[in-house]
Parts: sequence; C-alpha cells; structure tokens
Amino acid sequence: MKHLIDLDDFSLNEINSIIGKAIEIKKNPHEFSNVMHGKIIGTLFYEPSTRTQMSFQTAMLKLGGQVIGFNNPQNSSVAKGENFKDTIKIIGGYADIIAIRHPLEGAAKAASIFANCPIINAGDGSHLHPTQTLTDLLTIAEQKNTLNGLTVGFCGDLKYGRTVHSLVKMMLKYKNNKFIFISTEELQIPDYIKNIIISSGNSYEEVFSLEDSIDKLDILYMTRIQKERFTSIQDYNLQKDVFKLTTDKLKNANHNMIILHPLPRVDEIDISVDDDPRALYFKQASNGVFVRMSLILHILSTKIDENVENLTLNESCNNKLCITNHEKYLPHYFKKDNNSYFCEYCSREIKL
Ligand code: CP
Repeated sequence: MKHLIDLDDFSLNEINSIIGKAIEIKKNPHEFSNVMHGKIIGTLFYEPSTRTQMSFQTAMLKLGGQVIGFNNPQNSSVAKGENFKDTIKIIGGYADIIAIRHPLEGAAKAASIFANCPIINAGDGSHLHPTQTLTDLLTIAEQKNTLNGLTVGFCGDLKYGRTVHSLVKMMLKYKNNKFIFISTEELQIPDYIKNIIISSGNSYEEVFSLEDSIDKLDILYMTRIQKERFTSIQDYNLQKDVFKLTTDKLKNANHNMIILHPLPRVDEIDISVDDDPRALYFKQASNGVFVRMSLILHILSTKIDENVENLTLNESCNNKLCITNHEKYLPHYFKKDNNSYFCEYCSREIKL
C-alpha cells in the first residue's frame, strides 16, 4: 500500500504528477466526477480542523466516493478508552483510505503500521502536514510558473508550525530556493529542520524583523501563533502579537510577491490585507480540494512491491510529544543516517 506520511515517501516525479493532475482536475472537474464510485474515505480527526477535514471529504465526494469518520474522538469509542491501534484497525476495515489528524507527532506513521488501507497524514502534532504542502505547491506553481529559484520568508510560529516544516523540506527538492525564517527567538525553526537544510547543501537566514526582510521575498508564508501548542498562557501571550502583516508593511514588498497562509488566521494578517491582489490565502485553501482529489487518485491507483524494513532499537524516543511515548505498545522504529539515529515516527534525533 502507498501511504503519505511525509512527502519524502514520494519521488519528485510523483509529486509533480500530483500537482499536474490537480491542475487538470481544476480545469475539467466533471471528467473525474465518478472515478471513485464505491470507494470510502475515513476522516479521523483527533484535532480540530476546517479546511483539511472538509476538503478531504469534498474531494472524495467530488470523485464520486463516500465519507465516514469523526471530527471529535470523544464522539467515538475513544471516549470509552479504545486505544489508537484498535481504532485504526477497525476503520481500516471499513474504509478504502484514511486521512488522519492527531495532536501527537508520528501518529500517521503509527496508523500506517496497523491499517489495512492507505494512510494520509493530515497533520501530526508539530511534526508534518504534507497535504497542506501539496496545496501550497499548487498555489505557488500556478502563480509563479516555477517551484525553483524562489526566496521564501516564513513568519510566525516556526517552532511548532508543521506546515512550515513540511514546505521547507519540500522546497529543498527543487533548485536554488532560499529561506528567510522570521520569528522570535522562542519560536525559531527546530534544529532538525536546520540540519536537513544544511545537509542538503542549502542555506538559510534567521531574522527577527518582518519589515527588514519583506522586500527580499518572492513568497511570504505567514503562520498563526498556535495557542494549543503552548504549555502556559503567559508564554502564548508574550508571542501572539509580535508579527502582524498590515497594508503599511506591504508597501515595501515586491509587487509580485505572494502572501500565503495555511489558515486559520487569528490576528497575524490584518483583514485589510485581504483586498491586496498579492493575498492568495483563500485561493490556496480552495486549491486544497483539487490537490486532495489528485492525491486520492494517485494513492488508490499506485501499488508498491517493496517491503519496508524497519530498524528496531531498545531506546525510547526522547520527544515527549512523540506517539511512541503515549501508545506504549508501538515498536521502536528508527532510521540511521551516518552515525545518528532518528525516530521513524517523529523524525527527532535519538541521543544514545
Ligand atoms: N490549514 C489547515 O490545516 O487548516 P485546518 O486546521 O482548518 O484543517
């Protein structure tokens, strides 16, 4: 089975083909209106969502398929104490494909071990959000006619922002892209993402001012300060209003810079910015349906022969938010890269 846990699971050709097919579907949606007749998607959302959940559901309905699932695990037998593995095994027997969102890092990987159908990661804690990245790529490709040679400024919560982590990793697969990370010291991009950039031979800048860097950007990727990821309200309050995009700040930006945001927004983009033709975040959200239609088609029409060999260690993952530290029956799978070990679920380095 083909899963989408991390876009690293897909070749660049596959990703380009998913984007290309999404453009084709967008132009001729009626040609695809019955291709998933008889198929069911399970949308299991252990965390709130508007866009990802409903765009997956819309995507399957527009392809002629059907939808089951929950948007609050407390309305399922999770509330009676059913563990993650059992829930996934059961829904994997009902659905042809599952899109799962979960607050713990590595949850989609864990689901892929037990499910009898393909799993799509619809966001796992602060780790990754690959289908948002496909949405972002489609929007960038449509607007810029290229995915190479772009300077991308990421602004806001770069520490917990899974959409940022996924998009940075993906943009490294294209040529000559540059990154400017605009955040407070407390919400800087994690070291493991910086290490991926460095080991791929690319570089990045870290800055503290949006005003000082906005004129260098082809893309400004704004993000929300995510209240739900903070352990103290005081820490959140110190961060929440630091970066705010206003029409005034946009005066220094290039006329062809585009503004993206995975949404939801709280206060980080002033409502008046919505009228600027460079503001593409609503278009970006609507692209999510087409790219997810294309992804469902791709996954359900791809068979893979290879047997993935997982490396097991006795060591635990040090990341408290990794699902292996909550669902204790999970095997401890790791990847080895040079002399370092990385958790197969949450990608964090394991200190042996
Ligand atoms: N972009 C995104 O993931 O939005 P939702 O949380 O509403 O799904």
